[in-house]
Amino acid sequence: MPVPVIIDCDPGHDDVFALWLAAGNPAVTLLGVTTVGGNGRLDHTTTNARIALTVAGVEGVPVAAGADEPLQRELTPATWIHGDNALGGPVLPEPTVPLDPRGAVELISDLLEASPEPVTLIPTGPLTNIATFLQRRPDLRGRIAEIIWMGGSTGRGNVGAYPEFNAWVDPEAADLVFKSGLPLTMVGLNVSHQALVTEQVIESIQRIGNETSAFGVELLRFFCGAYDVAEGMPEAPLHDPITVAIAIDRAVTTVRRCHVDIETKGEFTSGATAVDLHDMLGKEPNADVALTLDVPRFWQLVREAVATLR
Ligand code: RIB
Ligand code: CA
Repeated sequence: MPVPVIIDCDPGHDDVFALWLAAGNPAVTLLGVTTVGGNGRLDHTTTNARIALTVAGVEGVPVAAGADEPLQRELTPATWIHGDNALGGPVLPEPTVPLDPRGAVELISDLLEASPEPVTLIPTGPLTNIATFLQRRPDLRGRIAEIIWMGGSTGRGNVGAYPEFNAWVDPEAADLVFKSGLPLTMVGLNVSHQALVTEQVIESIQRIGNETSAFGVELLRFFCGAYDVAEGMPEAPLHDPITVAIAIDRAVTTVRRCHVDIETKGEFTSGATAVDLHDMLGKEPNADVALTLDVPRFWQLVREAVATLR
């Protein structure tokens, strides 16, 4: 029975591959896509989500826009990585996938109510939409199977010394989600930095030889170039699709149940995920924290999915 999922994203180069993995693997059913301000402003991330599905030939999956700004803070888009339009590199086609007028919270609500099975929410950006949904529709919590989030880190961050970008954009939203009591898997930088886009990876995707892979290669080359300049990492980490890979095959990562606190006050650490890896505090665990990645399996899943698309 395929796992029903909703992806809440901020495309974003790596978010696109998360969408393609969900659309291209039969072990999950992509019920819908919601977008949030993060890598880019909401108008860009929403258009880019529609473009990602258009390029891949994915039809019938509703795309709805959510929050442009975090709950309490101002958005700083990650233009230094993703470019001014949040999807730098290829010439972007006009999307043929329509914008669903419902908005993110309403679309998530409708999809949860209509699904015969509990739905896995897969946020790959700041948690603003997920937090807002949980606040507005607590009655639908029982329809959520789990949340698998790309964000945080058991180690250092990628925005300043400690915070990871998705958590840094909206720490208050992350704090609300981590205190929700819902089943939660955290895929942090400590794992995503194992999913490096090497030249071999790019060539293996290029050999797929369809429109989606060609577009994807242009995205990856831009992404790697930006990471090289910004972080001295010419082999960029493809963070977001790891979340979908977990929904497809739990064995692709190993996790440890930990208590995780979100720093919302620190002058230098706001957005940091304080992962109590060794249970020093004796607090009730609230997340399965991913620690390792089966790298060959991960890239196999990505390639297989892209090959099924246009
Ligand atoms: O820190 C990496 C995360 O921030 C990824 O989700 C990337 O797409 C950006 O949103
Ligand atoms: Ca993202």
